[in-house]
Amino acid sequence: MNILVTGGSGYIGSHTCISLLEAGHSVIVADNLSNSKIGVLDEVRNITNKEVVFYKIDVTNAEALDTLFSKHDIDGVIHFAGFKAVGESVSAPSKYYFNNIVSTLVLAEACQKYGVRKFVFSSSATVYGDNAVPFVETMNLLPTTNPYGETKAMSERILTDIAKANPGFSVALLRYFNPVGAHESGMIGEAPNGLPNNLMPYVTQVAKGKLNKLRVFGNDYPTVDGTGVRDYIHVVDLAEGHVAALDNLHEGTHVFNLGTGRGTSVLELVRAFEKANNIEIPYEVVDRRLGDIASFYADASKAERELAWKAKKDLVSMCRDAWRFEKHH
Ligand code: NAD
Ligand code: UFG
Repeated sequence: MNILVTGGSGYIGSHTCISLLEAGHSVIVADNLSNSKIGVLDEVRNITNKEVVFYKIDVTNAEALDTLFSKHDIDGVIHFAGFKAVGESVSAPSKYYFNNIVSTLVLAEACQKYGVRKFVFSSSATVYGDNAVPFVETMNLLPTTNPYGETKAMSERILTDIAKANPGFSVALLRYFNPVGAHESGMIGEAPNGLPNNLMPYVTQVAKGKLNKLRVFGNDYPTVDGTGVRDYIHVVDLAEGHVAALDNLHEGTHVFNLGTGRGTSVLELVRAFEKANNIEIPYEVVDRRLGDIASFYADASKAERELAWKAKKDLVSMCRDAWRFEKHH
């Protein structure tokens, strides 16, 4: 199939391009490079020995999408493009609502206009709010604590309504848990601008000596050791989940958790990183981070049942691969 990957030069998008190419699909990337570098797609070409067509466009721009869709016979869209910094979404909400919602609307419109029948959307476990764990797809969504999370919940509703009104249009809403790690070549990975918000890139930058020590946000949560628990998933497993969703997509809207089903605490991740890479990670415990919840992880059984997809890589691979990328980056 010809697959349009929006945000395809970003962290998850670039790994998904590799999985798509390896599965025999053709890939067209649309990215405005607001949070990625064009060189990433050269690495994708080097790793796969396959071509990727690239358009530097903003996917909120309907005219630019018209040009793209009229040049290519697109069979499916995977929509990664969007802003994702939770803290920034609180201080700049309109920037987040505009980019994340308008891109979804404009793309879904273009799909109707050009007869594209498959749409895969990057959602997030954040839409579950503070439901009881494990999070299951059948749960009612609860309000999130920030505009970023709201853009994911709203985009889910918009796509669900569009699929209802357009028989033949199929939508997969993929709720990611905590993507970490990198391609095992070490050539692509997560390269956040400025100070990392997320745990794993913070840990790898401490390992490299770019940052002095990790700040552990709270050790008084009701968890195994008091630190926050998350369901970390290797980005390559996550990428493969997109190919499985696309290959198995049928009419209507379908929601899938993409996680491992296992919870890991901050200190467990730090210990695993130290052991896997033989590097010490200095840390100090500081106050809880505003908006954090104690613990969440996936019930990942639906994706296994319906997509025949299951995360395979363990915490050791996540830590090794994340460090290999950071070391060479
Ligand atoms: P990323 O920032 O690395 O990738 C997003 C890409 O989209 C970037 O290359 C950026 O340049 C591009 N982009 C942004 N707005 C655009 C626009 N209007 N037009 C064209 N390109 C645009 O982020 P990522 O970690 O790869 O995340 C991909 C998607 O997955 C996002 O929608 C994000 O919200 C979602 N998600 C990410 C995580 C995570 O922890 N990384 C968790 C849950 C969901
Ligand atoms: N943490 C620290 N120190 C840090 C960074 C994080 O102790 O420097 C802790 C957090 O308190 C939390 C855990 O590490 O307990 C994971 O935090 P992340 O920031 O890596 O991830 P979150 O679960 O907070 O959020 C991420 C994305 C969200 C997304 C969510 C679910 O940032 O956008 O995963 O996919 F919604």
